[in-house]
Amino acid sequence: MAVDGPSGSGKSTVSRRLAAALGAAYLDTGAMYRAITWAVLRSGVDLGDPATIAKVAGEVDLRIGTDPAHPHFSADGEDVDAAIRGPEVTSAVSAVAAVPAVRELLVNRQRDIIAAAGAIVVEGRDIGQVVAPDADLKVYLTASALERARRRSSEHDTDVQATAEALARRDHLDSTRKIDPLQIAPDAVVLDSTELGIDEVVSTMIELLRAKGVVT
Ligand code: DC
Repeated sequence: MAVDGPSGSGKSTVSRRLAAALGAAYLDTGAMYRAITWAVLRSGVDLGDPATIAKVAGEVDLRIGTDPAHPHFSADGEDVDAAIRGPEVTSAVSAVAAVPAVRELLVNRQRDIIAAAGAIVVEGRDIGQVVAPDADLKVYLTASALERARRRSSEHDTDVQATAEALARRDHLDSTRKIDPLQIAPDAVVLDSTELGIDEVVSTMIELLRAKGVVT
């Protein structure tokens, strides 16, 4: 199943819960772009140098956890779960995710993980359109810009206004980049979570999977 949508739409929480409820694996593709960004920042590469960014991305030993209870990531043997959520990675990740060679590398890796997994919930920006166009169900999860900023600022204890501006900047970069921008797949079900709680979104997704005969 593919879950796409902008930052703060609730994708990660909902996808993890859904995977756990279904006994499926879970893949956070945003965390993959974040882990590569962590490695790029660590190596001191200029964010305007796509060739060197691609080289670093190709060399880093990225280990990707798909257990929804502990989706643990490491890069070159270092635990990066906390660092990839920090402000340095968050402000640099859109630039790294826009490098075509980085996308090619990670999309291939994502397809390998999906092929090996059996049942899996995959969340990101381009899953329904690019990574897994044959997904059994595609959901585009969204919420109002203000609600998304509220959620992010309560998670990270930051100012709502500043968070709203940072989210708007990242949404803009992610939806206007040349390769695989954030888009709604024509066959995706659009779910607006502005007024919905996590449990309601998860149960709506389970209903959608039932309606398609994917789960009983
Ligand atoms: O979902 P997130 O905020 O952790 O994603 C981090 C960044 O990675 C986001 O700015 C866009 C990028 N991304 C992407 O380009 N393609 C994906 N499939 C997932 C994330």
